[in-house]
Amino acid sequence: MNKILAIRKEQLPDNIEGLKNFIIIGEGVLKAHRSQLNIIKKIGMAQDYYNYYNARLSDGQSVATIVLEAQGKLGKVLSQTSISEKRASSAKGTCSLPGDITKKESHIAQLIANNPGVVIEVIERAKDNREIPTTREVLEEIQTQAKEEKKQQIINSYLQKAEEYTKDDSIQILEGDFREVTKQFPDNHFDHIVTDPPYTKECLPLWSDLSRIGNRILKPGGFCVTYVGGLFLPEIFARLTENLEYFWMVILLHKMRFLVPAVVVGNYYQSVLIFQKAPKKKYVLTCDVIQPTPLEKGLHPWQKSEREMDELLEKFTHPGDLILDPFAGSGTTLVSCLKNKRRCIGIELEKENCQIIKGRLTK
Ligand SMILES: C[S@@+](CC[C@H](N)C(=O)[O-])C[C@H]1O[C@@H](n2cnc3c(N)ncnc32)[C@H](O)[C@@H]1O
Repeated sequence: MNKILAIRKEQLPDNIEGLKNFIIIGEGVLKAHRSQLNIIKKIGMAQDYYNYYNARLSDGQSVATIVLEAQGKLGKVLSQTSISEKRASSAKGTCSLPGDITKKESHIAQLIANNPGVVIEVIERAKDNREIPTTREVLEEIQTQAKEEKKQQIINSYLQKAEEYTKDDSIQILEGDFREVTKQFPDNHFDHIVTDPPYTKECLPLWSDLSRIGNRILKPGGFCVTYVGGLFLPEIFARLTENLEYFWMVILLHKMRFLVPAVVVGNYYQSVLIFQKAPKKKYVLTCDVIQPTPLEKGLHPWQKSEREMDELLEKFTHPGDLILDPFAGSGTTLVSCLKNKRRCIGIELEKENCQIIKGRLTK
C-alpha cells in the first residue's frame, strides 16, 4: 500500500501489462480504504478515530488519483498501439491485447485519457466533499458533459438560425413579463390561451395573474388550456377558478415513468387543465386522453412535445384562431400553431428563449 502511495505520475509503468497490474493493485488498495472508512463512519467518529479517519481518507484520495492517472496513461498507450479495439473484443471474451485488456477496459481508459479536465474536476470535488473519487464518477461526469455539449450545440444552431428570422404577423414572439406585455391587448382579444406556466411553489401567484388577465383578454367562452404539475394542484386549481370556469382535465400519458421525489410517486402522466372564460359554451370533447409521444427536451428543461401540442390544438382550437401563450419557453405552442394554421402570440421572459423560438420559426 505504501509503495503505491509513494508512486508519482512520472514513475508509472510505460507498458500495457504494467499499467493494468498497477490499476488492479491500486483498486484493491482502494477497496480496503473504503471499507475501513465505512466501518469508522458506522461506529461513530469518536475523537480517537478522527485523526486516523482523516489519514485514511487522504491516503485513499492519493491512491485514487494515481489509479486514475494510470488509467489515463493506459488509455494513451492503447490509442498508440497498432492493435485495434475491435481485435480486443474478438473471439468472445478472449482478448488479443497484451495484458488481457478487454474492450470495456480499453474504452474506459481511453475515455479517461481524452478527458483530463474532467478527471481533475472529479478529484477536486471529492476532496471538497471529503470522499474518495471513483472511476465511475469520472465516467458519469464525462457522459453528462458530453450530453450538455450536444444540447448546447443544438441550442447554438437555433440561435444562429434566429439571425435569419423574419417577422411574421400571424406568429409573433414578444419578450417580457406577460403581466406587463398583455396590457397592450384590448379586452376579448384572443380566441384561446394555450400555455405551460412554471409549476414551482414560488411561481404560484402567477396562476392568479393568468386567471385575472385571461378573463380580460379572452373572448367569452374562450379556453385556457394549461399544462399543470401535480405537487401544487389544489392551489393552482383554486387560483385558476378565481376568474375562470373549470371545464375539464386532459391526461397526457408518458411512455416512461418519472419519479417525483418530493412525494415518492412513479408518475406516468401529465395533467392539462381546461378552463373557460364565462359564459361557458357547450363543447364536444370526444376523448380526454392523449397517447404518449416521444420526449423533447433539447431546447428547454420543460420543453413539451410538438405532437402533444398538435393534439391539444386540434381538440380545443380551430384554424385561423388567435392563440396566446404567455409562458412560451422554447416556443412549442408557436411552432405547433404555425404548422396547424393557427395565429399565435407568444410571450417569454428570457431573451435567450425568445431567440431559440425565432430560430425554431425560421425555416
Ligand atoms: C414551463 S416553461 C414553458 C416551456 C414550453 N412549454 C416549451 O415547450 O418550451 C415556462 C416558461 O415561462 C417563462 N416565464 C416565467 N415567468 C414568466 C412571466 N412572468 N412572463 C413571461 N414568461 C415567464 C419561463 O422563462 C419559462 O421559459
